[in-house]
Amino acid sequence: MRLKDTGLTAQDIKDKAKKYIIETYERFDFVAETAKDMYMYGTDGEAYLDFYAGIAVNSAGNCNEKVVKAVQEQCRDLMQTFNYPYTIPQALLAEKVCTTIGMDKIFYQNSGAEANEAMIKMARKYGVEKYGPHRYNIVTAKMSFHGRTFGAMSATGQPDNACQIGFGDMTPGFTYAEYNDLESFRAAVTDNTIAIMVEPVQGEGGVHPATKEFLVGLRQLCDEKGMLLLLDEVQTGWCRTGAVMSYMNYGIKPDIVSMAKALGGGMPIGAICATAEVAKAFSMGSHGTTFGGHPVCCAAALAQINELLDKNCAANAKEMGDYFCAKLETLPHVKEVRHQGLFIGVEFDDTVSGVAVKHGCFDRKLLITAIGEHIIRMVPPLILTRQDCDKAFRIIEDTVKALI
Ligand SMILES: Cc1ncc(COP(=O)(O)O)c(C=O)c1O
Repeated sequence: MRLKDTGLTAQDIKDKAKKYIIETYERFDFVAETAKDMYMYGTDGEAYLDFYAGIAVNSAGNCNEKVVKAVQEQCRDLMQTFNYPYTIPQALLAEKVCTTIGMDKIFYQNSGAEANEAMIKMARKYGVEKYGPHRYNIVTAKMSFHGRTFGAMSATGQPDNACQIGFGDMTPGFTYAEYNDLESFRAAVTDNTIAIMVEPVQGEGGVHPATKEFLVGLRQLCDEKGMLLLLDEVQTGWCRTGAVMSYMNYGIKPDIVSMAKALGGGMPIGAICATAEVAKAFSMGSHGTTFGGHPVCCAAALAQINELLDKNCAANAKEMGDYFCAKLETLPHVKEVRHQGLFIGVEFDDTVSGVAVKHGCFDRKLLITAIGEHIIRMVPPLILTRQDCDKAFRIIEDTVKALI
């Protein structure tokens, strides 16, 4: 939709949004109208360099041509069917995902939280059916983030976060251990534990990549105790971290992996992939969804994956991530720069507010996000170039210098 076709002004749009939308977000103060590759454009035609990509979604570039074409063609041919007939995009995407990441089976969902619900449900059912009625507990990490539905919220190890406060009791069956601390996880495991669930890089927790020792150690611990390793790759999946899936950086494989965000290239789709043995836990009627596996979203995802692989986005994420982060290290008042590929967190010392940096960058037409008090997070499209990195760096540097 274009503003000129509505007869309204940008202010009208903001006013209507403020009046009618239940607001849980701090908005950037502009009306986004179009986007292309590394840029988002406001209604006055102003260009914003996009270093958040819909939060790690538009990895092959905003409104990627091939993704847009796939969506348009699929809308023309077939939209919603429920999961009664077979559909072409569903089957082709299933094969592409499973063969690309070395998993056996896929189940489609609509979002990251829903994918994690499916992952939790599958692991619990596997445990109860294989070992008995009490073996359904899952150990997750403190400071994790797994989404905002009740199972995903309960898996999230952040009791003091607004995403959990005020909602009453969480779902039972979860205990929490220290991230990157193998002994803490080992100590949290009981006879009733069926799985360990972690993000390979804790994103909302401040961008903390798992150490190799930790993730490989968790895999070994799971094997030793007959438990499943569940990886939440909702944010890390599909080339962001310098490998197609982050677990490939560690030389391990999970029993179930969840994904969403970048998978759909801007269309809402989530999924889990599992080994054939674990996937058997979902039998006829045990799980389902009206929109999961939507033909339009599957067609978009297939185009998106082909783009990410054809353009070698994982290698670019690694190269540009290293290049950009070396520059970010030189910013004033930086405490630590943490990254895996183009999943980047910059933590400043106590004198610099992450939110203030975000606002200052917005004023200079760069879009980034902030986490906690002193951290900025950047998850740009994976097609970015050195020139994009240089431009973003100059803006962040100017912003930080102006703040201190
Ligand atoms: C690691 C992780 N898991 C799950 C989610 C939830 O995904 P969604 O917002 O698509 O429900 C997010 C969202 O940021 C995430 O980063």
